[in-house]
Amino acid sequence: MLLQGRNLIQPEDFSIQEIDEILSLAQNIIDNPSKYSNICEGKLLATLFYEPSTRTRLSFEAAMNRLGGRIIGFSEPNSSSVSKGESLADTIKTVECYADAIVMRHPVAGSAAEAAKYSEIPFINAGDGGNQHPTQTLTDLLTIKSLKGSLENHTIGLCGDLKNGRTVHSLVKAMARYKNVKFVFISPDELKMPDYIKEAIKGHAYYETNNLDDVIGSLDVLYMTRVQRERFENQDEYEKLKDCYILNKSKMKNAREDMLVMHPLPRVNEIDVDVDSDKRAVYFKQAKYGMFVRMALIMKLLGLSVERHMIIERECVNV
Ligand code: CP
Repeated sequence: MLLQGRNLIQPEDFSIQEIDEILSLAQNIIDNPSKYSNICEGKLLATLFYEPSTRTRLSFEAAMNRLGGRIIGFSEPNSSSVSKGESLADTIKTVECYADAIVMRHPVAGSAAEAAKYSEIPFINAGDGGNQHPTQTLTDLLTIKSLKGSLENHTIGLCGDLKNGRTVHSLVKAMARYKNVKFVFISPDELKMPDYIKEAIKGHAYYETNNLDDVIGSLDVLYMTRVQRERFENQDEYEKLKDCYILNKSKMKNAREDMLVMHPLPRVNEIDVDVDSDKRAVYFKQAKYGMFVRMALIMKLLGLSVERHMIIERECVNV
C-alpha cells in the first residue's frame, strides 16, 4: 500500500515493509543529502506543539527546511486560539486549510487518533501523553539498524519509567514484529511496563526485573528513559523514584563491548555525563538520525520521490 496521504498515529499503522521503505530512504538521504534539498519546494508542514519539545519539533522543522519546504505552527498553545477555548477539532480543521501535513504533540493520551479524524491531510503523532511516540520509534529503528546492521536477533533492555514513557511503549510494539527480539523490562514496581503493552506483545519473550546490574551484561541495546515528572499526580512519589537508575562508567564495565546505550532524551540524571564519551553511548547520534528519518517520513506521506521530482522538472523545462 502507498504511504502517500496516510496518517501515523502508532507504529503498527505501517507494515514492516513500509517501515523498511522509510528507513532505506532515510539512509539514502544521509548518503546523498543534496539530491533531496528542494524536493518539498512549495509544501508547508504545520507543527502544533501543545507540550514542550526540543528534538521532535526542531528535527521536524529542520527536516522540512532541509527538503526545501516551509513550516507554520506553534510551540506554545497559548500563542494560538487554543487559549481562547478553541477545540482541537476546530484547530485541525483550520490548519488543514493551510498546510500539506500536520505534526501534533499533545499531553492527552488518545488525542492524536481523535485529531486525525478531522484531518484530510497526512497527520503525524509527535507524542500523545503517555501513550505513543511513533516518530521516535522510527528514529530508534533507524539507529539500531544503522549501528547494529539489522533489527532482528537482539536483546533489548528498557530501563526507567516504563509506565509513563511513551517512547518505550511504541518501541516495544514495533520491535516485537522482528525475528528473535527479546525484551528485558527494568523498572521499579511502581513504574512497570503497562499490562496493555505486555498484552500487545503476547507470545514474545520478555523478562521483568528491577535490577539493572543483574542484566546489563546480557543486552545488545540498553534503552534508558527519564522518570516522567509531568505524568505524576503525587510529586512526593516522583521525588522518591526520580533517581531509581543512574547509568555510570562503573555500571558500563559490566556491559558488552558492542552494546548500544540509547535514550530518547531529554536526560535528567539517569545517565551520568561521564558515559557520553563512551563509544557505546549513541543518544546524540540517535537524535541526528531522528531528523533524517523525519525527512523520509515527510517525503513518503506527501508522495514525493527524487524520480518524480526529476520528471516534473523535465516537464517544466519542456513547456
Ligand atoms: N525524544 C523526544 O521526544 O524529545 P523532545 O521531548 O525534546 O521532543
